[in-house]
Amino acid sequence: MQNNPGTVVVLGTGGTIAGSSGDASDNVGYRAGQIGVRQLLDAVPALAALGPVEAEQVAQVDSKDMGFGVWRELALRCEAHLERPEVAGIVVTHGTDTLEETAWFLQRVLAPAKPVLLVSAMRPASALTPDGPQNLLDAFALARAAGARGVMAVAAGQVHGAREVRKRHPYRVDAFGSGDAGPLGCVEEGVFKRFRNNADEAVALGTALLPPSPADWPWVEIVSSHAGATGAAVRALQAAGVRGLVVACTGNGTLHHGLEAALNDARASGVAVLRATRTLDGRIVPTGAPALPSAGDLTPVKARVELLLSLLASA
Ligand code: SIN
Repeated sequence: MQNNPGTVVVLGTGGTIAGSSGDASDNVGYRAGQIGVRQLLDAVPALAALGPVEAEQVAQVDSKDMGFGVWRELALRCEAHLERPEVAGIVVTHGTDTLEETAWFLQRVLAPAKPVLLVSAMRPASALTPDGPQNLLDAFALARAAGARGVMAVAAGQVHGAREVRKRHPYRVDAFGSGDAGPLGCVEEGVFKRFRNNADEAVALGTALLPPSPADWPWVEIVSSHAGATGAAVRALQAAGVRGLVVACTGNGTLHHGLEAALNDARASGVAVLRATRTLDGRIVPTGAPALPSAGDLTPVKARVELLLSLLASA
């Protein structure tokens, strides 16, 4: 199969990749989301030499502050560009901190037949050795690679699928992993080497279900099971009007009994509940015993996206 020579559309959202510090040796005390996406691309002239490029600034945020308004706009812009036949793929510049949530959100809403690549960096653009430029180059290679499809994250030479990708380190340049599944592949000297397929079963939910105002998105929180857990937080959230609760469970989806009782009560009164495991890798293996619904291999933050979207779809 031939690589696609089409246009790569780059959508900027901020993050460390667009971060800047007055001190080039400072890799932690910078401000994320300072440099425009056009300027980031201009700093890597090799990108334009690869083929046609378009850039749009969708947002300029530190991704710890990611919100529903930006998610909505990003999904709509991706959808509009994916429909254009001349577009080979989309690159989204994004902070590392909530990248895995945005990746799963976009995968579930769009399930794109073209590649949508989330690109980040652990060092700001002003660093002595920023990692963003190489990550961008790798993403551009993947955006035009034959057979590439779906939402993926490209970082430190590795390619991770939206379902599996998770940030696993707060400082190292290779901050992402894919748990038990491992990366989908790698990019070496501009060539995508595939290790396995990402035939994700996710069906496109469609952006039509996204409410225009962030205030109209359902309220979904994450609570956790741990030593000494009680149902007090669940009861307080329920009284305050929460619509959905993800519980980060111990081990194979187990719960402290006090917390479990409160979650069962909340569910009986109409709050949607989903169990996810708080372990670093693996999935909740079904036991056959009656239990609250399981998110399987989704991490708690991705399970929250799932619950959010299912509440929107059923509204
Ligand atoms: C952010 O997530 O926007 C800041 C941290 C990072 O990109 O590494």
